Amino acid sequence: MSTATQDEPAFLRALSGETLATPPIWMMRQAGRYLPEYRDIRAKAGSFLSLCYNPEWAAEVTLQPIRRFGFDAAILFSDILVVPQALGQKLWFVEGEGPRLEPVADHKRLGEIATQADPDLLAPVIETVRRVKASLPRETAFIGFCGAPWTVATYMVAGRGTPDQGPAKALFESDPALFQQIIDRIVEASIGYLCAQIEAGVDAVQIFDSWAGSLGPEDFERWCVHPTRRIVEGVRARHPLARIIGFPRGAGRLVPGYVRATGVDAVGLDSDMDRSFAREEIQSLVPIQGNLDPLVLRAGGRELERDVAAVRAAFGDGPFVFNLGHGILPDTPISHVERLLAAVRA
Ligand code: CP3
Repeated sequence: MSTATQDEPAFLRALSGETLATPPIWMMRQAGRYLPEYRDIRAKAGSFLSLCYNPEWAAEVTLQPIRRFGFDAAILFSDILVVPQALGQKLWFVEGEGPRLEPVADHKRLGEIATQADPDLLAPVIETVRRVKASLPRETAFIGFCGAPWTVATYMVAGRGTPDQGPAKALFESDPALFQQIIDRIVEASIGYLCAQIEAGVDAVQIFDSWAGSLGPEDFERWCVHPTRRIVEGVRARHPLARIIGFPRGAGRLVPGYVRATGVDAVGLDSDMDRSFAREEIQSLVPIQGNLDPLVLRAGGRELERDVAAVRAAFGDGPFVFNLGHGILPDTPISHVERLLAAVRA
């Protein structure tokens, strides 16, 4: 897509294929626990989900990293698991541990899950989008998101995060038709959810496939690539110019095939990605985003300076958005984020 003009935010120009002398930068999980102002609002909200569903507070924490650091893009504050919740699955977060859901792993439990997301449950998130849009500086782009069907399904089936996605894999091996139905519901709900975010004001959307790397080529094709392509097509059927970033974390050498088959406009790269492979085989297809190691950002110092330079040397001659390879770690010092921004913008 080449609809970007000089007046557009740098992030959108990069997504449209422009090579910029200074790459735009934002960070996954940039609104989060490493910021004292986030921890304040998080404490007021009481729980993570109460924060996600409170438009005033969710808009505020979305804007905090923009005010503090002037990132080139804001990302909506929410979670990928609001989609299963809108499909009627019980969801809660255990402090210090992570998400819990009532597992859906048989036909009876699937029968209790809705075929369509409840728009009332997602309405507060869409209201957050409207509020953020109204207060963002013109030069700051706004990113919406959803989880990819495979990654969301791993949580729906296991009822929690799992180191190897074993329960979801066991289900698609033993009952692929049931697993396909779970995927289909996530696909449909995600199309509607992303379209609603676009209609309320986001400039681009990202599809997070955090567990894409745990599948072999055939399963990756079936459970990651194909459902993601359906989301891309479904969103574009309503919004032909929608800008969509895929993030198949850990997919390595399967990423070029993913890009070609899904039709995403850009792709996020994790920190394990081989940089010369990415430059030659991926950046030649679409703009890329990533891949600084969050551990290096947390460590800071000379290694950080060195790695920022290495990422820029690898990707700076083509369309590129600076980002981490995964979310910022909660114990990352704020001074390291400041150093990162200074180094990228120097
Ligand atoms: O990037 C952003 O700043 C936007 C907001 C955002 C969150 N989660 C906020 C969040 C986004 C885009 C996500 C995506 C998400 N959520 C993913 C995909 C990306 C990834 O990280 O791999 C996944 C797998 C989830 C599910 C999820 N949410 C888990 C497993 C956890 C627990 C782990 C943790 O970091 O605590 C969450 C909680 C969560 N989501 C927090 C935040 C800021 C921390 C909750 C808190 O403040 O208590």
